[in-house]
Amino acid sequence: MSDLFAELRRTDFARLDAGGHTYLDYTGSGLYAESQLTEHLELLRGGVFGNPHSVNPTSAAATELVVRARDAVLSFFRADPEEYEAIFTPNATGALRLVGEAYPFRSGDRFLLTFDNHNSVNGIREFARARGADTTYVPSVAPELRVDEELLARYLAGVAGEHHNLFAFPAQSNFSGVHHPLGWIEQAHAHGWHVLVDAAAFVPTNRLDLSAVHPDFVPVSFYKMFGWPTGVGALVARREALAVLERPWFSGGTIVAAFVQREYYQSAPGAAHFEDGTVNFLALPAVEIGLRYLERIGIDAIHAHVETLGAALLEVLGGLRHSGGAPAATVYGPRDTDRRGATVAFNFLHPDGRIVDERFVDRVATQHSISLRTGCFCNPGAGEVAFTISRETLVGGEFGEGMTLDDYVRAIGLPSGGAVRASLGLASNAADIERFAAFAAEFVDLAEVPGDLPPRSGC
Ligand SMILES: Cc1ncc(COP(=O)(O)O)c(C=O)c1O
Repeated sequence: MSDLFAELRRTDFARLDAGGHTYLDYTGSGLYAESQLTEHLELLRGGVFGNPHSVNPTSAAATELVVRARDAVLSFFRADPEEYEAIFTPNATGALRLVGEAYPFRSGDRFLLTFDNHNSVNGIREFARARGADTTYVPSVAPELRVDEELLARYLAGVAGEHHNLFAFPAQSNFSGVHHPLGWIEQAHAHGWHVLVDAAAFVPTNRLDLSAVHPDFVPVSFYKMFGWPTGVGALVARREALAVLERPWFSGGTIVAAFVQREYYQSAPGAAHFEDGTVNFLALPAVEIGLRYLERIGIDAIHAHVETLGAALLEVLGGLRHSGGAPAATVYGPRDTDRRGATVAFNFLHPDGRIVDERFVDRVATQHSISLRTGCFCNPGAGEVAFTISRETLVGGEFGEGMTLDDYVRAIGLPSGGAVRASLGLASNAADIERFAAFAAEFVDLAEVPGDLPPRSGC
């Protein structure tokens, strides 16, 4: 099997080595295979496709592509079409917004979510608040950054009466790579919760089998799975759960009919009710092509491939020592491959234990043509626990008018502006890890960083 990955690296991903790239940001974005582009372009070159909202021949051709892409999404996730619907969105965030803005939160309802969540999930709390529902966060616990499951069980059980309650967590943390238990879905269902599983960081390298687990709402972004196309995601959702959503408006595409002399509209059935305007119909065939590409390699094989490389990456970081013997790196989250993906958050350390400024890490990475991520990765909750930042610190230190992020980092005494994240994907290989090790060695015995680092623009 490793031969297959080596072959793909030589062919479909030849541009990585041709350009001297060490790409370690697959949780930011997956990479497309060259063959995906060829297949997509051939299809576009060979056909004439009109707006699918019509019935003419070119429209029918486009509709067929949309239907095929929708079927491919459900089939890839083994979702029974009787139970699930695949709604196309601009990205995972678009899918999350659909849920947030339409979930029928009322006063007394609950929105429960893990600290460890992407900001696009955190943002749902604003919809909850506007509609009078209570938001509760379940903390992660350092150093593993997993959830206190006893506390979670208490929160899930602590509901009574007729309410709409929504529980949200990521299947894989985009910060620490932690896999949160999918067993929570049934545990929450047993207490009447709707469950949103953010699968954006999970599905590129893990099997999500919706015949085995039955979350209500699953947002994904396809570029994270196979690089191309950007601008297309999906909300895979249980039909029963979709039926409780209350869309705040209608638009072209979401209705069967609307009138102007009478303020009435009839919603379109199924996915169309949630797809505002025209779907990205020329990009959608690339979703089917990308899913087929992953199927051909096998998601389980991809999982095993990145797990092996992830172990090597963790070993490099765990073994990195200054000449005096002090650790030169610290990993946030699990130190081994148990119940985690190949997304690793860490910081380099100076010999006296201080964190190496992540802006300097960026600079050295660029010198090595390494692409990784620095900052908080849109997941402030995981970072707050990793850096042991207390609620009091945050409440006490307002992000005042005119402050820059650097002012704020100083004001609340943060050790740095964030962490460093390396994440692996199907085109990663052992040579990437070796180049990462050579880069990491640059931080051994590093006493100080230069004083000319650029200001931080955002977390
Ligand atoms: C876990 C998770 N959820 C949601 C998102 C948001 O994805 P997008 O920016 O494609 O909407 C990301 C992106 O990094 C993510 O990692």
